[in-house]
Amino acid sequence: MSKINGSERSFTFGGTTKSGINSDPCSRAWVEVDSKAIENNSRIFKNFVGQDCLLMAVVKADGYGHGAVTVAKAALIGGADSLGVATLEEGIELRKAGLNCQILILGNLINSEELSTSFYWDLVPTISGIREAIICNNIAENNHKKFVIHLKVDTGMTRLGCNCDEVKELVARIDNLESLSLEGIYSHLASADTDLINQSLTSLTQIQLNRFKKTLKNLGERSNFLRRHLANSAGTLSDKQLHFDMVRVGLSIYGYLPIRGFQSDLNLKPALKVKARVTLVREVQNDVGVGYGHLFKTKRKSKLAVVAIGYADGISRSLSGKISASIDGVLVPQVGAIAMDQMVFDITAKPEIKVGQVLTLLGTDGENFISPHNWSDLSGSIPWEVLCSFRNRLPRVVT
Ligand SMILES: Cc1ncc(COP(=O)(O)O)c(C=O)c1O
Repeated sequence: MSKINGSERSFTFGGTTKSGINSDPCSRAWVEVDSKAIENNSRIFKNFVGQDCLLMAVVKADGYGHGAVTVAKAALIGGADSLGVATLEEGIELRKAGLNCQILILGNLINSEELSTSFYWDLVPTISGIREAIICNNIAENNHKKFVIHLKVDTGMTRLGCNCDEVKELVARIDNLESLSLEGIYSHLASADTDLINQSLTSLTQIQLNRFKKTLKNLGERSNFLRRHLANSAGTLSDKQLHFDMVRVGLSIYGYLPIRGFQSDLNLKPALKVKARVTLVREVQNDVGVGYGHLFKTKRKSKLAVVAIGYADGISRSLSGKISASIDGVLVPQVGAIAMDQMVFDITAKPEIKVGQVLTLLGTDGENFISPHNWSDLSGSIPWEVLCSFRNRLPRVVT
């Protein structure tokens, strides 16, 4: 029997009335987030940088795909002092969730409307020039309050930031704008992660460090009253010289080293797992094509498991036939093209797998650890992109 109930369809099944919407987030495929791991990693970094250095947890892009509010709360419990986001909306989401620490917007807000919203929500904008500084000053003046800002300096990334040789004059002009409170000055490293391969600062990071130091020196005493920050995860890990007054850690807060193989005894814990259920198990003969384009053909009589996750969930099609998933500590290879909503695994080596069982596609399962580095190596990407790819169709389940 079925009846329309509001906008939902409900029906009776086995004597119980069920809503047409499946409310179990783990019914198909999901991202599992270990908030204690984030807390742990944040605590590790706080201890690592020491008492004289602040820790900003970078939670932009929905907390690198983990869920921004979850990771922000966990990072703060672990000892992070402030949060970094990319956009106004990301900052507002955190404020609406009740987080009242300092939040720096790392992207550029360009007009009075955006900067007024930033002011209203007490979000600190990044300023790269006098144009935005004047807009901020006008907003604050009209509200009879100070607008806290951070100035970005381009030391070699060639993206946001003013030129190093403009900083002295710019700071003087900003200091003359009475409703502004210039609290921080920062820059961003362009290749600290690749420099980590050698475990020493190589040319570009060294050049950026030198430029940043020279810029601060040019500011004289004034620079001592500014919060100076330069390092991302890789910079933080590679050399204490890069720490200054604050570090901005993203990837490593989530438990990953920017470069696989980097020798570190920090004991970071990866926080994310991607899991999906087997929806069908079948036996097929030798030489049977599997999936779109028959990219894979069985080489023997095989047992296959269809799993309900695909590229519409954020798993790149370019990984087709290259990844494995873990179940009960056994790795089973994915075969054929990854489709929009499904992919197939060859479970001949583990024939007892049944419909409804869960495969771990990414993360730790027993002794197996499938890292975003594995996927990014296979797809020509980077772990940052792998983590940010998971769509909202995959529920985030916090453990
Ligand atoms: C300005 C800025 N600082 C810090 C970070 C954190 O970088 P990572 O994830 O490598 O630690 C980012 C991320 O891209 C960033 O844009």
